Amino acid sequence: MLTPIVTTIAEIREAGAAARRVGKTVGFVPTMGALHEGHAALVRAARSSSGFVVVSIFVNPTQFGPKEDFAKYPRTLEADQKLCHDAGADVIFAPSAEEMYPERSLTFVEVTELDAELCGPRRPGHFRGVCTVVMKLFNIVGPDTAHFGAKDAQQARIIRQMVRDLNVDVDVRVEPTVREMDGLAMSSRNRYLSPTERATAPAIYQALRHTKTMAFGGEIDAARLESALHAELSAIPGARIDYARILDADTLQPLARLDRKALVAIALFLGTTRLIDNLEI
Ligand code: PAJ
Repeated sequence: MLTPIVTTIAEIREAGAAARRVGKTVGFVPTMGALHEGHAALVRAARSSSGFVVVSIFVNPTQFGPKEDFAKYPRTLEADQKLCHDAGADVIFAPSAEEMYPERSLTFVEVTELDAELCGPRRPGHFRGVCTVVMKLFNIVGPDTAHFGAKDAQQARIIRQMVRDLNVDVDVRVEPTVREMDGLAMSSRNRYLSPTERATAPAIYQALRHTKTMAFGGEIDAARLESALHAELSAIPGARIDYARILDADTLQPLARLDRKALVAIALFLGTTRLIDNLEI
C-alpha cells in the first residue's frame, strides 16, 4: 500500500495524535512536492529518528513573489507518493490553499536581520511566507523533529532562529545537500532547464569548489575570494549572476576574512530558471 494522503488539518492532527498515543515520536519533512532524492534523504533522516514520519506537500502561495513561478511550479503528486513510500513516510499531508488559508490571514512570522542578504532582498516577503507556513505546519503536525536541507542554507538558518526565538518545541535538523553525479544540487526547478542549460549547470558547484580550494590554499580575504567567484561565474555561457556572496555562516552578514565558519552562496539564472547552491567553509 502506498503512503496515504490526507488533505485536512483535522485528519493530520488525528494521525499524529494516534501515533503519539502508542508512544511514537513524530518526524516531519515540509516540502512543496516535485520530490527528488534530496527530499528522500530528509524523509530517511526523519525515519531514522522517529516512529512516525509526516511529509507535507504544499506549494505555499505566500512565499512566491508576483513574478515568480507559483502557477507553473511542478505538481507531481502521484510520483511524490511513490517516493514518500520508498523513503519510509507514514503519511502525506497535502492540503489545499483554502485549507491552509481559509480566510484572510492577518498574522505573519518574520525573522529580522538574517534576511538582509542573499535571497532576502531579491525575494521580498519570501522568508516571511516561508516562516509563516512552517510555523503553521509545526502547529498542525506537532513534530518532535523537523528536517530541512542545507541546500536552502538561508532558509534553514532562519527557521532555526524562529524556533529558538519563539520557543517552538521542535528539534530542527539540517541534512547535507544531495547532488547529481556531476555536482548539480538536486532541485525541483532543475526540470525547467533546457539540455544546454542542464549541461552548463554543474559549473555552479565547480565554482563553489574552486572557492573552497582557494580558501584552503590560504586566500582568506573574503572580497578577493568573492571577486574570483564572480569572474568564474561570469564566464559561464548564458548565465546571469543574481548573487555570489561569502558571508558569516552564523549571522549571514558580510565578513572581511575567513576566520570563522563562512557560507559561500550563489544564485544564478540559466535562461529563466533561477538556481541556488552553497557551501560552508
Ligand atoms: P522545497 O523546495 O520542496 O524543499 C523542501 C526541503 O527539501 C527543504 O528543506 C530543502 O532545503 C530540502 N531540499 C531541497 N533540495 C535539496 C537537496 N538537493 N538536498 C537536500 N535537501 C534538499 O523549501 C521548501 O520546499 C519550502 O520553502 C518549505 C520549507 C516547504 C516551506 O514552504
